[in-house]
Order: sequence, then C-alpha cells, then structure tokens
Amino acid sequence: MFISDLINGPLVRFSFICFFAGTLYQVLSFITLSKTRDRHPARQQRAAPERKKESDLLDRTSFAYRFAMFRLTVFGRYPVMMAVTIIFHLALILTPLFLFGHNILLDVSTGLHFPSLPESVTDSMTMTVLACCLFFLFRRLFVKRVRAITTFSDYMMLSIAGAPFLTGLLAYHHVGHYETMILAHMLSGEIMIMMLPFTKFIHMIYFFINRFILINQNTLGKGGSRVWR
Ligand code: HEM
Ligand code: HEM
Repeated sequence: MFISDLINGPLVRFSFICFFAGTLYQVLSFITLSKTRDRHPARQQRAAPERKKESDLLDRTSFAYRFAMFRLTVFGRYPVMMAVTIIFHLALILTPLFLFGHNILLDVSTGLHFPSLPESVTDSMTMTVLACCLFFLFRRLFVKRVRAITTFSDYMMLSIAGAPFLTGLLAYHHVGHYETMILAHMLSGEIMIMMLPFTKFIHMIYFFINRFILINQNTLGKGGSRVWR
C-alpha cells in the first residue's frame, strides 16, 4: 500500500521537479562551458576560391546536382531509418501530451490541460511507438555495423523509452490486473521522466544545441555562434 501511495503522488511531483531542474541545469552547464566566438576569418577566405573553382565545373542549381547532394545526406543514405526515427519521435512526444487519460489527471491537479486527441488515435500512436521500438531493437540486433557499436545501455534506453507505452497500452485495454498495470505504468513513466535530463535522453536538448548553436558540430542554420571553452 505504501509503495502505491508513493507512486501515485509524491513520485509524480518529484519526477517532474527532476525533469525541469535537470533540464535547466544542463542548459546552464552548456552556457558556462561554452563561449561566443566569431567564425574563423582565415577559414572563410580559404574556402572562397575553392568554391569558385568547383562552381565553374558544376551547375549547382541542376536537379542532378541537388539529387546527388541529397543522396549524400543521412536522409538519402538511410531513408527507412530516418522515416522511422521521425515517426517514432513525433508519436513519442505528442501521445502523452494529447492523451485524454493524462489530460484528465493534469486538469485535476493543476486546473489546466492540453487539448485531447480521440482515444482511438492515441491508441494507434502508442502502437506506432512500440512498432518503432521493435524496429530499432531488430536493427541493433541484426544489422552488423549497428550491432558493433551497440552496448547494454542502448538496449536499456530503448526499454525505458518503450515501457510507459507498453504498460499504458496494456492498462488501457485492461490486459492483466488493472491496478497493478496502471502502477507499473506510472512507475515506468516516472522513471523515464526523471532520467530524461541525466542520460542519453538529453539528446532532446543537445540535438538542438549541437546542430544550431555550436560552431563546427555539423551545424545547421546560420552555422552556430558558440564554441566550447
Ligand atoms: C507521470 C506519470 C504518469 C501517469 C500518472 C500516467 C497515467 C496514465 C493513465 C491514468 C492512463 C490511462 C489508462 C486508462 O485509460 O485506463 C495512461 C495511459 C497512457 N500513458 Fe500514461 N501516465 C504517466 C506517464 C506516462 C509517460 C511518461 C508516457 C510516455 C512517454 C505515458 C504514456 C501513456 C500512453 C501511451 C497511454 C495510453 C495507451 C493507449 O491508450 O493505448 N504515460 N497514463
Ligand atoms: C525534440 C526532441 C528530440 C530529438 C530532436 C531527438 C533526436 C534523435 C535523433 C537524431 C536520434 C538518432 C537517430 C539515429 O540513430 O539515426 C534519436 C534516437 C533516439 N531517441 Fe531521440 N530525440 C528527441 C527526443 C527524444 C525523447 C524525449 C526520447 C525518449 C524519452 C528519445 C528517445 C530516443 C531513442 C530511444 C533513440 C535511439 C533509437 C535507437 O535505438 O536507435 N528521443 N533521437
């Protein structure tokens, strides 16, 4: 009884405090560990004539050139993986936010809630997340070059991300003992939320920091404005 009281109340609040405080800590760490810097002027000067020479030979606006360039990107090289990653992340983030069951609880405890999607839609999105988890699992088990760099922690991360979806699905469909399943669901959700800022899951913040803010880290957009100290 004591454990279920803990999972039902204090641990929910504690997990959200961990999430917000931990995320703030990570962002502040990034700010203190990095500094703003102009891009290296010598690099730009060196790059300019090279670019000019290339453009004499290539029509950069042609479809053939653009297609060849696209084939070199991660989307061109691994289209199936990238499609699954995008579908997985969209469903992973949107499902818990727009889930009717969650919004009722949110409204009861804060008086606020997000709009809810029909339950048949969130149910399908839940199954989509689980199907993507299976895809990632099989990829790690059976694709040699992926297996070679996979460690135990990759399987752990995949299980921790998938567990709230599996237990949520089973609870919603009343598979097994409902009270036990919903407790397992809440506990797995709380564990995931607590772990977000302190594990590999922090890529949800560092993806944007690396790709848009840090110079020379495969930066997208304007090329970044900060470097590590
Ligand atoms: C913080 C603790 C959480 C609580 C208290 C909670 C509570 C609930 C409740 C009451 C339901 C409805 C079950 C039913 O209709 O009988 C539910 C379903 C669900 N929850 Fe959570 N949840 C939590 C965390 C999470 C997290 C972190 C995720 C995913 C990231 C998640 C994903 C889901 C999904 C996908 C379903 C429904 C599955 C379906 O309809 O097929 N939950 N949750
Ligand atoms: C907006 C936020 C996020 C972005 C931009 C993002 C981006 C990415 C990217 C680029 C990958 C690598 C895909 C690849 O291997 O090619 C990835 C993998 C992954 N992400 Fe996220 N992510 C986000 C949020 C999250 C969250 C909140 C979770 C879980 C709670 C999560 C769980 C995972 C997992 C488990 C993988 C690894 C799949 C595998 O085993 O290969 N992500 N993410």
